[in-house]
Amino acid sequence: MTHHTKYLRSIATVAVIAAACVAVGFAVAARAQTAPQGDPTKGKKVYLAVGCFECHGRAGQGGAMNYPTPSIAKLEMPVESFVSFLRDAPNDMPAYTANVLSDSDAADIFAFLQSLPGRRPAKDFPLLNN
Ligand code: HEC
Repeated sequence: MTHHTKYLRSIATVAVIAAACVAVGFAVAARAQTAPQGDPTKGKKVYLAVGCFECHGRAGQGGAMNYPTPSIAKLEMPVESFVSFLRDAPNDMPAYTANVLSDSDAADIFAFLQSLPGRRPAKDFPLLNN
């Protein structure tokens, strides 16, 4: 193989990789559009209005205000699981039916929770590192 064909081959490889990246990019963009888009500012209002904060705290930090309650800042579940969890909440958490909390309000709450700082590692607290 001459240097020349080697060079052409590597250009072809780069082109294939670039095309694959573009395809993945489109797929991601398409998915983002089908998921309900929540509004974190509106979500914060709903979060306070329907009383999530009474158990989970104003910053979703969790704690033991009324019951031992998990932190829900930066949830690692998809929005669909979040909404179905609310519809049929287990144990000490009250269920929120669609009459009380619409899917779009729930998606706004989800966006609000994702916008919270969440738990920070100990190294971020200067006092803990003295
Ligand atoms: C009366 C107290 C109370 C209220 C009000 C409440 N929760 Fe909860 N929530 C809990 C408790 C307790 C749990 C843990 C349930 C269990 O035992 O599995 C929980 C669990 C959750 C979880 C699951 C967390 C995880 O990581 O598995 C989510 C998400 C959640 N709550 C969101 C909400 C939202 C959003 C609202 C308002 C619409 C709300 N909660 C209102 C008490 C409450």
